[in-house]
Amino acid sequence: MSIQSERALRTKEYCHDRFGMFIHWGLYSIPAIGEWMRSTERVTIEDYQKYFDTFDPVNYDPKKWAKLAKQAGMKYAVLTTKHHDGFCLFDSQYTDYKATNTKAGRDLVREYVDAFRAEGIKIGFYYSLLDWHHPDYPAYEDAHHPMRGNEAYKEQRGQHFERYVEYMHNQVRELLTNYGKIDIIWFDFSYDDMTAEKWEATKMVKMARELQPGIIIDNRMGGDVCSAEPEIYSGDFASPEQMIPAWGVRDVNGDPVPWETCITLNGHWGYCAKDMNYKSAKNVINMLMECVSKGGNLLLNVGPDAKGNIPDKSIEILTEVGEWMRLNSEAVYGCGIADIPKHDWGRITKGEDAIYLYIQDTCCEDIAIYDCPYKTKGAVLLADGSYVRMHEPWNAHSYKTNGKVPVFVQTPEFRNLNGNANVIKIYIEK
Ligand code: GLC
Repeated sequence: MSIQSERALRTKEYCHDRFGMFIHWGLYSIPAIGEWMRSTERVTIEDYQKYFDTFDPVNYDPKKWAKLAKQAGMKYAVLTTKHHDGFCLFDSQYTDYKATNTKAGRDLVREYVDAFRAEGIKIGFYYSLLDWHHPDYPAYEDAHHPMRGNEAYKEQRGQHFERYVEYMHNQVRELLTNYGKIDIIWFDFSYDDMTAEKWEATKMVKMARELQPGIIIDNRMGGDVCSAEPEIYSGDFASPEQMIPAWGVRDVNGDPVPWETCITLNGHWGYCAKDMNYKSAKNVINMLMECVSKGGNLLLNVGPDAKGNIPDKSIEILTEVGEWMRLNSEAVYGCGIADIPKHDWGRITKGEDAIYLYIQDTCCEDIAIYDCPYKTKGAVLLADGSYVRMHEPWNAHSYKTNGKVPVFVQTPEFRNLNGNANVIKIYIEK
């Protein structure tokens, strides 16, 4: 079987799910200016130690997070088990720099796994390839290390990088051995010559697949997921970030490649106390439907604070998204590209035996679908199943598009149900 067909099989459910929760949480929630803080502020290990000493997430209750994710319609989650600062939320036998040794005093990853699994949400682990805490990770000449260019770290050039690679492989083995079935492993990220076999990526992928046969791996360990012959480590899906690719993601032959864009709810991944620049629920739903209509997933981020609370504003937005999902998720799960050009009024997704019109904006009474390749069999409003009239304006034949009369659907009167855009379901002949 080709690597592409194997990939397609493996990612079937993941592509069906379409919507996930990204969780960035760690020591950096304390300084509260985002997870790159150690690097941007060039903080030494010694200065960063105070966050380790005061890490005390008294309100950490992943059951609440899991309920929120479920209510929002999210089907999988990805938690930062270790971010670039090297701090581990899990109990690793290979380091002391872990949650178990903080005031938290326990394995926080285990509780996350238990809580999300109990809600039927698939489990993902984010694991940072970068590590600003490990002494064998290059510092002085590295592009991102907090101590880059710092004369005091002149000797830290990764002369014994193999020790770090071994550490990383050992930790990934722990993560994929000690927590039952893991659905996704999300490595982050490659840059400069820190890519592919530098991480011993082939070995890593083989180990991951051996320990977790069904696991899905992102594409940030290196290689090219879109090439005709992807490397074994080039991953199962493309992972654009803070953007939605104009035409989705396709390989060199023009065939669709599974993809997932990750997007923040405000402007930061890790908790940022001052950042109130949140997206609205409508904005989130727009992004989700845009992804689905282009054959992709949305991994939407939350950044819990130092005490373990997801910020109120994030809860409010996700709750509103959940209300919309309760009525309209049929247009999301298992849906994808409809093979109809983008229309001015919104987005179109396609399921088994229907297409879904996500109506963001209407200009006249009727919504026209031009270049519709399907034989239609009637339309309803997805939210409540009520009938929606399809008809042909009397002079439509005078205004064909590409030689064809468009399909016309009547705008539902109560299109502002929930304040967010409605979806019209049109049954099609298979
Ligand atoms: C970037 C950042 C990182 C964040 C990730 C999410 O790679 O380094 O902080 O976790 O994007 O996609």
